Amino acid sequence: MTHLIAPSVLSANFGQLETDINLINKSVADWFHVDVMDGVFVPNISFGFPVLKSLQQHAKKPLDVHLMIVDPDRYIQAFKDAGAAVLTVHIEACTHLHRTIHAIKQTGMKAGVALNPHTPVSLLSEVLAELDLVCVMSVNPGFGGQKFIENTYRKIEQLHLMKENLGANALIEIDGGVDFNNYQKLIACGANVLVAGNTVFSASNPSAAIAQLKQG
Ligand code: DX5
Ligand code: ZN
Repeated sequence: MTHLIAPSVLSANFGQLETDINLINKSVADWFHVDVMDGVFVPNISFGFPVLKSLQQHAKKPLDVHLMIVDPDRYIQAFKDAGAAVLTVHIEACTHLHRTIHAIKQTGMKAGVALNPHTPVSLLSEVLAELDLVCVMSVNPGFGGQKFIENTYRKIEQLHLMKENLGANALIEIDGGVDFNNYQKLIACGANVLVAGNTVFSASNPSAAIAQLKQG
C-alpha cells in the first residue's frame, strides 16, 4: 500500500475555510486531519462541532478526527454524526481503552489510538490487533508548527515489528513536524499516513507540497 497524506485543517486559514477545503479536495491528499482540543488534555482549544459540520458539508475526502480531549467516550456518537470516518483517542486520556475502542467501532467508524511522545508503543500490545490506526505523536500535542522529535523513528520501527508479530493491520500515522526533510525516512521506517499542517499550508503552493509528500 502506498502511504496516505492527511493535511491538518488546524493550519488552514479559518477566514477562508471553504477555499482551503476545496484546495485539499482538488489535491492528491487522501484524508482531512481534524484536530479537536479541549484546553484540558492539551494547553490549547481548537474548534468543535460547528466547524466539523462545515467540514462535513464541503469535504469530499474522509475526516480523520484526532481527539485531544479528556473523557472522549462522552462524544463518540456526536463525532460520528458530525461525519468522522476515523476517530482517534489518546491512550493517556482513556481509563477503559478497550471499551472506548469497541464503542467507536460499533458506530461504524474506524478506531485509532494516539500516543504522546513519552508513551511507549508496548502499551498497545493487548489492543493493537483490534485497531485500525495508531497515531504516533512526533511533537507534544496542542499546536501546529512544532519541531519533529527524532525518537519517533525508533517508535515507528518498534510498532512495525509489533504489527508483524501479531499479524495486525493498523495503519501507522505520524503527527507533528512532518516536513520535506523527514517524510521519506518516516515512510521507510513503516509509516502509512503522514499528517502535515505547517508543511502544507505555509507552502507557497500547498497542492504541490501535498503532491511532493505523496510521491515519497
Ligand atoms: C498537534 C496536532 C497536529 C498538528 C500538526 O497537536 O495533532 O495534527 O496540526 O501540525 P504540523 O504538521 O504543523 O506539526
Ligand atoms: Zn493531530
